[in-house]
Amino acid sequence: MEIVLEGPQEFTAKDGRRYVLREFKMADLNSVVSINRRVLPENYPEWFFVEHHMSFPKAFIVAEMDGELVGYMMNRVEYGWSYINKGKAAHKGHVVSIGVLPHARRLGIATNMMLRGMKAMKRFYDAEEVFLEVRVSNTPAISLYKKLGYEIAGRIPRYYSDGEDAYIMARTLADL
Ligand SMILES: CC(C)(COP(=O)(O)OP(=O)(O)OC[C@H]1O[C@@H](n2cnc3c(N)ncnc32)[C@H](O)[C@@H]1OP(=O)(O)O)[C@@H](O)C(=O)NCCC(=O)NCCS
Repeated sequence: MEIVLEGPQEFTAKDGRRYVLREFKMADLNSVVSINRRVLPENYPEWFFVEHHMSFPKAFIVAEMDGELVGYMMNRVEYGWSYINKGKAAHKGHVVSIGVLPHARRLGIATNMMLRGMKAMKRFYDAEEVFLEVRVSNTPAISLYKKLGYEIAGRIPRYYSDGEDAYIMARTLADL
């Protein structure tokens, strides 16, 4: 299904339920903060979410199912050394945070949020590639990213506050 980058888009989940992807709006703030706290140890203050919404509104995606917010993907675009073309600088999309509530997982929601978020970072903010950090033990997320064409581009020792290492994973956006 072709991903739409403007306005809400309805999808049929793998179990037949319907869900909608759309841009984050301020009224979603409490729900997004609450999903973040439930599904990830990396928690951010409210202003951090608001700042991403203000700076990169088209690339802050939420998923709604049965009238409930069940997932979000928050992104930014940075300028720095490329993970794809070594020695060159690039506009790099950065997947800052993504989460889906447990009861809404394995339905394809993260995949479609990732596709919309990546395309939006390219279309609206000139990103040429995209990268993210992920815990080396986070097999579900690493599988998701590999399926979406990401490769491991580096490893940061003790990146997380509990001492766990992060992989940096990256992919080009040339094909999207
Ligand atoms: C990682 C996460 C966002 C995936 O969300 P999701 O909506 O369930 O993902 P999708 O349904 O789009 O899954 C797509 C593919 O990813 C892989 N995947 C997802 N969850 C997986 C799991 N638990 N085990 C193995 N592979 C998994 C599979 O290849 C899956 O395809 P399949 O269901 O056809 O086998 C979700 O598990 C989550 O919120 N985890 C906690 C927060 C987190 O770790 N965020 C990432 C931090 S970097």
